Amino acid sequence: MKNSIDNLEIMITEEEIENRIKVLAEEISRDYAGKTIHMICVLKGGVYFMTELSKHINPEIPVSLDFMSVSSYGNAQTSSGIVKIVKDLDEPLEGKDVIVVEDIIDSGRTLYYLLGMLKDRHPASLKLCTLLDKPERRERDVKVDYTGFVIEDKFVLGCGMDYEQYYRNLPYIAVVKS
Ligand code: IMP
Ligand code: MG
Repeated sequence: MKNSIDNLEIMITEEEIENRIKVLAEEISRDYAGKTIHMICVLKGGVYFMTELSKHINPEIPVSLDFMSVSSYGNAQTSSGIVKIVKDLDEPLEGKDVIVVEDIIDSGRTLYYLLGMLKDRHPASLKLCTLLDKPERRERDVKVDYTGFVIEDKFVLGCGMDYEQYYRNLPYIAVVKS
């Protein structure tokens, strides 16, 4: 059995996240008016954010979803620098307007590698949307098109983000109090 963390502190509330996601979805809906959107979720962290975000896209814009899983972290709290594809996409990207949806961009290594690889599949366009951005920790230059919240360099949990695979289900974003 997993011991629970008893010193969690809420950093961003459920309501703040919901409101921000609606605003992001409106912005994306304006940018993609008259197009279709192919959203790619980076598992597992991006799954809560992508489902919420996609629900608020203007229904006149057709949205399709695909999933991929890459690993750069294992269970550690610091990046190993090794990025491998654990599960590839089901669909080709050729000619599609693609938005990659991530939970958090930290060193940027994962997305730097992933975006390079996806570009080679010739999408019509490729953009990146992340719920959280920790720019202080950036090691690779990654262009983020849509950002939920910019946060300071703290390890966070919830809304898809885990600590040793647990706590992804928290509806808010929390930090471990030190
Ligand atoms: P990057 O390659 O360093 O940008 O790492 C990105 C991935 O590391 C994210 O998609 C998360 O899965 C994980 N990660 C980075 N920071 C955190 C955090 O504060 N909490 C939980 N997971 C994190
Ligand atoms: Mg992730």
